[in-house]
Amino acid sequence: MIKAVRGTRDLLPPDTALWNFVEAAVRDVFRAYNFQEIRTPIFEATELFARGVGEETDIVNKEMFTWDDKARAQSEKGQSLTLRPENTAGVVRAYIENHLWDRGLNKLYYMGPQFRRERPAKGRYRQFYQIGAEAIGPPASGSESPARDAEIIEMLATLLDRLGISGWNLELNSVGCANDRAQFNQALRKALEPVKDKMCGDCQRRAVTNPLRVFDCKVPEDQPIIEKLPRISQFLDVGCRTHFEAVQAILARVGVPFSLNDRLVRGLDYYTRTAFEFTHGALGAQNAILGGGRYDGLSEALGGPAAPGIGFAIGEDRLVMSLQEKTPAESMLRKPDVYLAPMAGMNAEAAKLARELRRHHLVVEVGDDTFRLKKSFEAATKAGAKYILIVGENEVQVDAFALKNLVSGEQVSVPRAALAQKIQG
Ligand code: HAM
Repeated sequence: MIKAVRGTRDLLPPDTALWNFVEAAVRDVFRAYNFQEIRTPIFEATELFARGVGEETDIVNKEMFTWDDKARAQSEKGQSLTLRPENTAGVVRAYIENHLWDRGLNKLYYMGPQFRRERPAKGRYRQFYQIGAEAIGPPASGSESPARDAEIIEMLATLLDRLGISGWNLELNSVGCANDRAQFNQALRKALEPVKDKMCGDCQRRAVTNPLRVFDCKVPEDQPIIEKLPRISQFLDVGCRTHFEAVQAILARVGVPFSLNDRLVRGLDYYTRTAFEFTHGALGAQNAILGGGRYDGLSEALGGPAAPGIGFAIGEDRLVMSLQEKTPAESMLRKPDVYLAPMAGMNAEAAKLARELRRHHLVVEVGDDTFRLKKSFEAATKAGAKYILIVGENEVQVDAFALKNLVSGEQVSVPRAALAQKIQG
């Protein structure tokens, strides 16, 4: 038997109804904040992620699905391609390539699969789904404003509330900007120098190439050392500090609770200033339900104009998991309103009637004219239909049909023209 590849899985009904419920709520809430949908390709040039996400990150370093797209003709060059491990780099590429600033398109959201070769675990997959949004634009459009950060974060709180997810925690930090990063890196290198030999191989490398990434380390033995390292909060310049305070002040005013965590640096290199994560207790080890932050230099790093931005991505798999606790997927699914049971030779008439009823937005399931009545009743019950309707020669002739309510057992004969209304009622 051929099985789904390790770290991938099938999303099946009725769970998919829960996914649809989430996505419908997302579209509705994001629209209220004037976000519009963007769909970028699932694979991109490898260089985009190397330059965007950062060579020294775990994502780029260890987790990408990358392959060589061979040149088809001698004159063509082959290209290294990668399944997107995240969507921010792709959105910013699209922003630059399509001059989205000219069209005033500066609030974009996306939903779709992402790919990372991580060790599969509960809530961690190699193909997983993200729902994300990016607010990006020229500095003159106010894209740098702390009001944007707070609005994005407040939107997320609104979404989680709307979905009925309670018990989330919002952790907030500022990871500073280029100004303070240089000083911070220097201080980190200095602090790491005497201790790095006691750390894991990854950290020894990071200590030299990109010391900030030491904070991504999950090795338990390294944690006491990391705990004692300097924190970015001690190095923020006046601009970053004021910006961060303004974000906090707005969040406090709009009533979104948060806690500060100055160890939160996020696993991608493009972040500047505000960084945040929402966690949820019910998720176990993979408790980050979503993460995001500001990335004011990313557009320039990808060869575009200055375009400060802030965004986030929700792990949809994890969001659905936290919902499943109390919202059974079954309850999200609209069951058939009516099951049509054609008598012998009546498939065509049943098809005609089904077509009419579906035009009234009814959910209709149709049996087969080889079924005995008993089998039709069983099938109707199994499908969870509310009504069963017998399509026999007689019924068609008099243009009225026997309609039985499978819950109450009540059976009535209803004229064709009144059927939809009766079933809807
Ligand atoms: P990220 O923190 O790498 O950020 O991923 C965001 C979320 O995706 C995580 O909090 C988690 O819920 C989910 N996630 C990540 N990896 C997996 C996995 N292997 N299996 C299941 N879920 C996973 C980003 O991707 C940034 N692009 C977010 C962002 C947008 N920052 C600014 N704009």
